[in-house]
Amino acid sequence: MKNIAIIGTGYVGLVSGAGISDFGHKVTCVDISKNKIRLLNNNKIPIYEPGLDELVKKNMSKGRLIFSSDIDNAIQNNEIIFIAVGTPQKENGEADLSYIESVSEVIGENLNNYKVICTKSTVPIGTGNHIIDTIKKYNKKKIDFDYVSNPEFLREGSAVKDFLWPDRIVIGTEKQSTFNIMKEVYRSLIINNKSLVHTNVPTAEMIKYASNSFLALKVSYINEIANLSEVLGADIHQVAKVMGQDGRISPKFLHPGPGYGGSCFPKDTEALVSLSKKEGIQLKTVEAAIEANIFQKNHMVKKMKKLMGGDFSSKKIAVLGLAFKPNTDDVRESASIDMIQEIINAGGSIKAYDPIANISMSAIFPDIDYYESWEEACKDADGVVIMTEWNEFRGLSLEILKSLLKEPVLLDTRNIFSIEKLNEFNFRYDNVGRKHL
Ligand code: UDX
Repeated sequence: MKNIAIIGTGYVGLVSGAGISDFGHKVTCVDISKNKIRLLNNNKIPIYEPGLDELVKKNMSKGRLIFSSDIDNAIQNNEIIFIAVGTPQKENGEADLSYIESVSEVIGENLNNYKVICTKSTVPIGTGNHIIDTIKKYNKKKIDFDYVSNPEFLREGSAVKDFLWPDRIVIGTEKQSTFNIMKEVYRSLIINNKSLVHTNVPTAEMIKYASNSFLALKVSYINEIANLSEVLGADIHQVAKVMGQDGRISPKFLHPGPGYGGSCFPKDTEALVSLSKKEGIQLKTVEAAIEANIFQKNHMVKKMKKLMGGDFSSKKIAVLGLAFKPNTDDVRESASIDMIQEIINAGGSIKAYDPIANISMSAIFPDIDYYESWEEACKDADGVVIMTEWNEFRGLSLEILKSLLKEPVLLDTRNIFSIEKLNEFNFRYDNVGRKHL
């Protein structure tokens, strides 16, 4: 069993730390935020992620998972150091590598014996070399170390499942001996025959960006086809379903919606485009995916405005779903932000409800009204827009919804309601790529 330190207890670091300790390794998760570490040591998980609570508690109680704010000590006393700090987006679209930079310095300063340094954070292709150089610069005693890129493919809302049952594990390292050490880390998964891929560092870094950008592109593509379908009388559900029956296409990520959000697609597509521009290489497809996504978010606002008779002023609109997707409290880049902002700008007011993301959204919109149930949010509203496909909304009674609303007006940006039912209850409705008024 290995002794491992994970620097950064964001959702990648925390899920990876809990998952790796579950394989039997001894893991120390560290963070500069003393508050976060205090919360974690008091059994409080700072993010909402299904299954994470149980996984953390189980491994803490077995003594395999500990939390600390002593980064120096964690580096000195462990043999594998994972870097899992944030790489937020800068104004110009590039990834902000300042946290990576400072962690690399600290690692260099604290090297006291041979270690494997492994980056899990999503970093632009080529960053590996920079991390190695920075560690070397601060590694005054010239202690030997090796570097690995081990990108994560965790989806928020199913990150624990994705970690414990991955489609693939990518280990980017030039050396076979380092690959063998990393193989030991993931031994439990390899026993289950999960595909372990050995690449060089830039290839591993590229796999991450290429995968996320491709998925973003797929979503933007189906959104555009949905927009065209609806004006031509085609039904996007059937179009997407049958497209997905072609094994070369696959049915996944073909659900049209209000535009992708979250902490990865928007940031990673921008970072890849920015990198391609620097290198003088065209990346027109990814640029188009970004543009189509901006259009899509705006298109939803226009649809809602049209349903409301062309004007939001003095209208009370219920917004159901604030998170960028279900099963997370993350609202970063969520299409609901654009919707809320535009309604407010046009003089309307918001009655918001999300099963768990009310608090996160209140950091962005502190002055709108938040409710504890969809029923309260919809009561006396002039219309309702569904922004996130929470299961709770899929099952809601259209009869009750209609009785609560002042007017039966509904925009279903996730296509969760049956058109037949909406017609049966005489809703004035719209959706994405299906029948509409
Ligand atoms: C993504 C990648 O899937 C994951 O592998 C990577 O590690 C991090 O980025 P995540 O951002 O958690 O994960 O969410 P994901 O499930 O991929 O959805 C991203 C966005 O696309 C969401 O806003 C979602 O609503 C939207 N989406 C997804 C669609 O609109 N339609 C789809 O068919 C799929």
